Amino acid sequence: MNQYDLAETYDWNYENAPKQLPELAIPEAGGQWDFCGLPIGAPLGIPAGPLLNCDWVLYYSRLGFDVLTYKTVRSRYRKCYDLPNLLPVASPQLEVGAGEVLVVDSGGPPRSWAISFGMPSKDPPQWRADVERARVGLQSHQVLVVSVVASPEPDWTLAEISAAMRGALSGLPLVLKIGLFEHPVAASAFIQAVRPNCAALSTVNSVSAAIRDSSGQILFDGNIRGIGGECVRDRCQAEAAMLASLMQTHAPDLKLVGVGGLGDADSVKQRLAAGAHHVQIATAAMLDPLVGIKIRRQLT
Ligand SMILES: Cc1cc2nc3c(=O)[nH]c(=O)nc-3n(C[C@H](O)[C@H](O)[C@H](O)COP(=O)(O)O)c2cc1C
Repeated sequence: MNQYDLAETYDWNYENAPKQLPELAIPEAGGQWDFCGLPIGAPLGIPAGPLLNCDWVLYYSRLGFDVLTYKTVRSRYRKCYDLPNLLPVASPQLEVGAGEVLVVDSGGPPRSWAISFGMPSKDPPQWRADVERARVGLQSHQVLVVSVVASPEPDWTLAEISAAMRGALSGLPLVLKIGLFEHPVAASAFIQAVRPNCAALSTVNSVSAAIRDSSGQILFDGNIRGIGGECVRDRCQAEAAMLASLMQTHAPDLKLVGVGGLGDADSVKQRLAAGAHHVQIATAAMLDPLVGIKIRRQLT
């Protein structure tokens, strides 16, 4: 199977995306599933990150994932951070404010990593044409999501920002991807501010930590990085449960997308049981491109 090469740059992985579609039997997931009201075959998707361009989108669309998110794009070109962009780390399940994680230099395949890309973007004419190629290449039971990021002005409110985004979407659903809340009161205020304009909240973007190498040095000039993979699973599960319960009370029409630390059928079932209507997998799907097919076999 083709995989993202951690030792190579983002641009190298962009240029060396898989060109051939896998021809594998995709197990039926059983049941009826949707993504923000759009029908899909199974509740599994890929969040923003692993799918750098159309070729990566189409590759994973033949591996059991029915919601494919095109990696975050911007209104102008932005360079990627230098390597390492993905640095394997070892940690017990992370809590907020856990502080630090340790780099692992050797051993088996990583299960978690520090993510350090700086959300690069190609120029809009390049990504727009590429997004369109991805859209037409998907199958009828699949959905393409395009992740965008922007820098708000200090006087803009959450309600204004979400209303402007919704206005630009001509009726397509708006999903807001969010980080961890320090307190349910803040989460509740957020939900009520964005509720009129968005179809779903996607949680969690990542759990952040400082990164220390085996010689004791703090890396990335002491800046924290988002951690993805197994060690964020429990914290992301708790966040999804907290949000689902608030949404039931304050915004029953809003859907939840579960992200963070998912990598097997049990964790997927738990996140759905906590209230997510759909789940997305980044790290585990990069480490094992067959993970979607394996999970689907156990969802039937
Ligand atoms: C290689 C990689 C690149 C990522 N790039 C983005 C990005 O561009 N925008 C974004 O919102 N999240 C990005 N993420 C975060 C993922 O969407 C996801 O929220 C996070 O990795 C937690 O999920 P996981 O534990 O399944 O990896 C990236 C993650 C990875 C692994």
